[in-house]
Amino acid sequence: VTATRLTTVAEMRAWSARQRAEGHRLALVPTMGALHDGHLDLVRLAARLADRVVVSIFVNPRQFDRADDLAGYPRDLDGDAAALAGLGEAAPDVLYVPDVGEVYPSEPAVTVTVSRLDERLCGASRPGHFDGVVTIVTKLCNVVSPDLAVFGRKDYQQLRIVTRLAADLDLGVEIVAGPTVREVDGVALSSRNRRLDADGRRAARAIPAALRAAVEVARDERAAGRVPTAGMLLDVAAGTLSEAPGLTVDYVEVLDPETLAPPDGPDGRREVADGPPERLLVAVAVHIGPVRLIDNVVAGDEDDEQRLLDASTG
Ligand code: PAF
Repeated sequence: VTATRLTTVAEMRAWSARQRAEGHRLALVPTMGALHDGHLDLVRLAARLADRVVVSIFVNPRQFDRADDLAGYPRDLDGDAAALAGLGEAAPDVLYVPDVGEVYPSEPAVTVTVSRLDERLCGASRPGHFDGVVTIVTKLCNVVSPDLAVFGRKDYQQLRIVTRLAADLDLGVEIVAGPTVREVDGVALSSRNRRLDADGRRAARAIPAALRAAVEVARDERAAGRVPTAGMLLDVAAGTLSEAPGLTVDYVEVLDPETLAPPDGPDGRREVADGPPERLLVAVAVHIGPVRLIDNVVAGDEDDEQRLLDASTG
């Protein structure tokens, strides 16, 4: 099944308007291409939730803080189109592939900005990145007018920020999260993995290992009737990464998964007596040579914990 390729805002708008007039529910899966199985899973999820699916492929220059990262970002439109066609029943209806001049015909005078949620994690390492993301996601939603848009959990901070974008600006688009897809050794799928050599690929295993170590501590603490603290999870995740060869740590943080701020309490160490397990986001970014990789798990979210443990048995 080959998707219709649309390249202009006008064509995309006209197609969406026709679908909505016919009563169809539309899903958008925004991507920057170089699609891997994680993306394909997001498209499958979109196909289950909507009657019509649009996949956008646009390498958005405004969310790159480094020219070399933008230049080196993998691009493979024909491979992407073939991978999407291979989804059969779940293949998207439209591939929206505007060029930079179509999306930004002139230097914008008005853009969308993020506050607070971008102060840490990738927002701190990549100044302006999330303003670029929310601006392009707003523009894509304005052109496609989807009922829902699907984002991967691997980019956890992006998912949180986009969820708040939709709520705070009344986009009228439901934001749906798709689980992180992992290789057999636990490494999360990422378009950037294509740029790793064999040594780099081996070094990347330390990332899920660090997350797994944090989850195991959280589970042991809970099993012993104690509440895992942010400090404990941070110590074990950071310790695992500091011993790993071939990578440098950009950040390891343990934060409140909603506010992306440190959990309350002296030294960020919070003791909670009763109730459901406290949810703590353990988020990691590392550099392996020129390649920057991110990953995360929400300790206390049993599904997320289990998916990580299942995918990375050590
Ligand atoms: O996650 C990505 O690939 C990008 O940040 C997105 C959401 C497509 C916006 O350019």
